[in-house]
Amino acid sequence: MTTIDPVARAEELRAAIRYHGHRYHVLDEPEIADAEYDALIRELEALEEWHPDLITPDSPTQRVGGAVSDLFAPVTHRRRLFSLDNADTIDELRAWEERLVRQVGQTPGGYSCELKIDGLAVSLTYQDGVLTRGATRGDGITGEDITANLRMIESIPLRLLGAPPALLEVRGEVYMPYAAFEALNLRQAESGERMFINPRNAAAGSVRQKDPTIAGERQLAIWIYQAGLIEGGPTLATHGETMEYLASLGLRVNPASSIVPDLDAVIAYVEAAERTRNDHEYQTDGVVVKVDSIPLQEELGFTARAPRWAVAYKFPPEERTTRLLSIEINVGRTGAATPYAVLEPVFVGGANVTNATLHNEEQIRVKDLRIADTVVVRRAGDVIPEVVGPVLSLRTGEERSWTMPENCPFCGNPIVRPEGEKVARCSGGLSCPSRLREWLAFFAGRSAMDIEGLGYKTIQLLVDERLIADPADIFFLTPEAFDGFEGWGDVSVANLMAGIDAARDRPIARLVIALGIRHVGPKAAEEFASVFRSIDRLVTATEEELLAIDGIGPTIARAWVEWVAEDENRALLEKFRRGGVRMEDPEPEAGEVSDVLAGVTLVVSGTLTGFSRDDAQNAITSRGGKATGSVSKNTTALVVGENPGASKVARAEALGVPVIDEAVFVEMLERGRQALG
Ligand code: IVH
Repeated sequence: MTTIDPVARAEELRAAIRYHGHRYHVLDEPEIADAEYDALIRELEALEEWHPDLITPDSPTQRVGGAVSDLFAPVTHRRRLFSLDNADTIDELRAWEERLVRQVGQTPGGYSCELKIDGLAVSLTYQDGVLTRGATRGDGITGEDITANLRMIESIPLRLLGAPPALLEVRGEVYMPYAAFEALNLRQAESGERMFINPRNAAAGSVRQKDPTIAGERQLAIWIYQAGLIEGGPTLATHGETMEYLASLGLRVNPASSIVPDLDAVIAYVEAAERTRNDHEYQTDGVVVKVDSIPLQEELGFTARAPRWAVAYKFPPEERTTRLLSIEINVGRTGAATPYAVLEPVFVGGANVTNATLHNEEQIRVKDLRIADTVVVRRAGDVIPEVVGPVLSLRTGEERSWTMPENCPFCGNPIVRPEGEKVARCSGGLSCPSRLREWLAFFAGRSAMDIEGLGYKTIQLLVDERLIADPADIFFLTPEAFDGFEGWGDVSVANLMAGIDAARDRPIARLVIALGIRHVGPKAAEEFASVFRSIDRLVTATEEELLAIDGIGPTIARAWVEWVAEDENRALLEKFRRGGVRMEDPEPEAGEVSDVLAGVTLVVSGTLTGFSRDDAQNAITSRGGKATGSVSKNTTALVVGENPGASKVARAEALGVPVIDEAVFVEMLERGRQALG
């Protein structure tokens, strides 16, 4: 075992902290994630606690991080802007309260719980109600004068309302809402400029522009969270009252804050905040807890770095840096070749991440990702992990750019990308084992034929053992085929056979969906089925006949006609028939189709894969249902696609309205309310 030399380690940590501190605070170009920077500081603090003789006056622990840049005029804050100590666990929160109680001899009797906004701290000074100065925090003592830029932010009043005090200094967090961040990055990419890594960097970069119109264009906003100084105004007894007072002056105070009686209630707030951390229109990275009573705050005072009366509970980080080891491709059910990143494993957003989708070649180019880059990886909530971008300053010159391979790694056939299309495709058809596997998984999936017992692992086995070469082969499987397969006893084989048998009798729309034809999604399949009622009639339908159907446009009509024009596709349909799959729907009884959703009210949020917004609405209303825009207690269910509105989901959950995915929605279009189980 090697022992660590504390002197050398302290120097090493100081150098690293100075370097990264400068990149973060002065250049706005951090190359490590905040959590990693914090870890360096914490390690140094711990080391200095054990070896106080190692502390030097210029150690980064001896001041609040940050340096003053020479781009803007320095301003000395009237009162110092302190930083906050962190608590990473609930136990650390309890330890924080124990320290308070020890110092003041009582439990504080009330805490303010607030979301910790991930933006940048600013100080605003109002003299006789007029905004006279706006500054960055800087090192807490001296900041930068960014008044001109802050004046461009709509939520910062230039003049206060009501009867403002003679002098008021407030602190708050300037941030960039996600929507503005995404729009900004889109513009940056389109104009060939560098994209921002996250909303905080984008906000910081925006307020430190020489040209204030840029800050104005970027839709920044502010939440005010503290009064620094009030002269010639009321004397306030609690933080809560102070915030109410500031709000009454027209300052923007976050309504998500809450005054709670004790630490148990703080913990409940923290847990709820962590669960819903991605439901806001802005990025949050924790909860700030403050003692509510101002006399108690004064009694508790400050350490060198931070107030004793407040603490920041930090959520586990959702962004980390790691190495991009290689870029591989997946071939999906339509043959689309999708690149993904193979990463050095990194624990982020509460999970170990080793792979992340890269969408397409274009994205890799726009982000300028190269193999061997150090990259920022983001995993927020249940959203699939994403490679945000490379850390350019860590490039060594050894990195290699990537291009789509010429041949499919699964079947060796050429990968082609038609002019003007973003997506490259394997040309191998069903001879490509990857494509076959993905198609089968989709075919058997809940939104298609819904074959119980036929999951990904089983499909993999059946493909590997060459028992299945196309989806119709599923219906020719016999129990004997499983003889000798490990883990396949009589019961599991019988269950699978029953699952397959049940799938033989699905409405024909399900079969049409399951064919996985590009552009022919659930909505089109339902329309086809309701008009033609049989696969045979659909096969002979002309493009004109299809176009005559409400909601079917030329892309869908052509896609279907071209698909059935292929001999092998028609042969596949015949094979389904031979396999006992239903090829016709019974004629509807009068009124049956139109009122399956009578009395049902649905709200759709986010992007569905098989329906445009209008399609989904039509599908609901044409079945006698109601489609509305907001969730209420009268809503039957909330249908969520990709990126649903967080407030809708939260409201549905609060009201006990079922939240369903697209597969259940498709089922509701067939079976109405029953599909909710
Ligand atoms: S109070 C003395 N409240 O977090 C108390 N800070 O890590 C000073 N922050 O510099 C801060 N949301 O930039 C406070 N509701 C909130 C906050 C908040 C975000 C930031 C602020 C501060 C940093 C400390």
